[in-house]
Amino acid sequence: MYSEKVMEHFTNPRNVGEIKDPDGIGQVGNPVCGDLMKMTIKVEDGRLVDIKFQTFGCGAAIATSSIVTEMVKGKTLEEALKVTNRTVAEALGGLPPAKMHCSNLAADALHRAINDYLSRKGGSGDGQDQSAGGHERGS
Ligand code: FES
Repeated sequence: MYSEKVMEHFTNPRNVGEIKDPDGIGQVGNPVCGDLMKMTIKVEDGRLVDIKFQTFGCGAAIATSSIVTEMVKGKTLEEALKVTNRTVAEALGGLPPAKMHCSNLAADALHRAINDYLSRKGGSGDGQDQSAGGHERGS
């Protein structure tokens, strides 16, 4: 069974779509089911100021992507890179074991989009200020 939070994000997903002229793009295919995920990001001063996703995945993939975009928007790239499929599943109140692979899509696409952004910059690491704020998230 899915948690209420999963159902809520599934029926009302946030940040669906594609950013025009993105700073980074992350695309992944799920080796388990063959589904696809694409995330586009906008970065300013080392922070994710916008993020959108498109997926051909299942309901769990939609819900995990939706919550990932909410979790990382406004965060530094460093903080966003700490988001894993496990933290995502936890934020959603758990996923059925058979659906854990779906949450990999969201976390992997996010990481890929950030790495794409960093490599576009030439990987020079031009001293983004990483005044890491709190990353506490209630509930
Ligand atoms: S079954 Fe493919 S993403 Fe969930």
